[in-house]
Amino acid sequence: MSDHRSDVQRMRTVFVEALSLAGKSGEVEALRIRFLGKKGELTAALKSLGKLPSEERPSAGAAWNALRVEMEEALDKAMTSTLLVEAEEAERRQSVDVTQPGCGRPYGAFHPVVQVMHDVVDIFVGLGFSVASGPEIEDDFHNFEALNIPPHHPARDMQDTFYLRQGGLLLRTHTSPVQVRSMLRYGAPLRVVCPGRVYRRDSDPTHSPMFHQLEGLLVEENVSIADIKGCLEVFVNRIFGRPLKARYRSSFFPFTEPSMEMDVECVACSGDDPNCRICKGTGWLEVMGLGMIHPNVLRSGRIDPERYNGFAWGMGLDRIAMLKYGLDDLRVLFQGDAAFLSSGGVR
Ligand code: DAH
Repeated sequence: MSDHRSDVQRMRTVFVEALSLAGKSGEVEALRIRFLGKKGELTAALKSLGKLPSEERPSAGAAWNALRVEMEEALDKAMTSTLLVEAEEAERRQSVDVTQPGCGRPYGAFHPVVQVMHDVVDIFVGLGFSVASGPEIEDDFHNFEALNIPPHHPARDMQDTFYLRQGGLLLRTHTSPVQVRSMLRYGAPLRVVCPGRVYRRDSDPTHSPMFHQLEGLLVEENVSIADIKGCLEVFVNRIFGRPLKARYRSSFFPFTEPSMEMDVECVACSGDDPNCRICKGTGWLEVMGLGMIHPNVLRSGRIDPERYNGFAWGMGLDRIAMLKYGLDDLRVLFQGDAAFLSSGGVR
């Protein structure tokens, strides 16, 4: 007797097993082709029915056709359910989870020194000063001679700098050369502040070979020392955000006469902490050099010292930034530590 029953049963077993492993719609489709396609296994069995003896054909045909119907139903069911699962998955992948935290771009910030420079300039603009700038590569005349510092003057020792091989040029050691450039350019009366980078042969925790200064210059008639004190005290109180005691010590600069240095009450301890690391227990912080412009400097700027006089000052912007942000090592300002810089100077 023909063993079509066991053939049918074998194919059914193989099919059921294969379908149970098909988790994806593509796999289900592959099974449909494998069994029911033109060259499919079941299709082949149906085709071969014709070769059977006629008495076997009806029951074999019925058995194979029953399997075909079974397979079609099982494949349809599997196709529907796998497509459903896949559609759900696709939807899940495309959906937006509105409860996730945002991932916006981080904000940039001004470098602390640049921020301080803007703050300082804003205060002096409010007091009627304009902003001037000059070259960082200077000549000996503007950096020294026009400021009453002749070639062999000992004041040059404190401002050793970098010299260029050609043309007697140097990297400016202070912003003071912009005083002369401004006088020559604009004449009197004049009120300017000149912020910028300056250079010296210095490098330690409180000195960097490149640092920032802001020069101020006021030339008018009948200017007195009271005027510079009033002007700078307004400035100091504004930049540190509260009234601070100030004191003046006599000093020497070749380009001012008389010359002074201005100290302000320690912003950290106000003189109450003998171990204060900001003022080293002195209670005072040196913030700038200043004085009445020397007549020779006015002459270098082609201004008549018989008619005009004025005052000038120079201060370190990095130092003001250190005091404002409580830094104890100047070098953090120039090391490019993004975390420090983007915090706006907070450590
Ligand atoms: N140029 C001086 C320095 O770098 C600072 C200074 C002192 C500037 C007194 C001035 C001034 O205009 O009057 O040390």
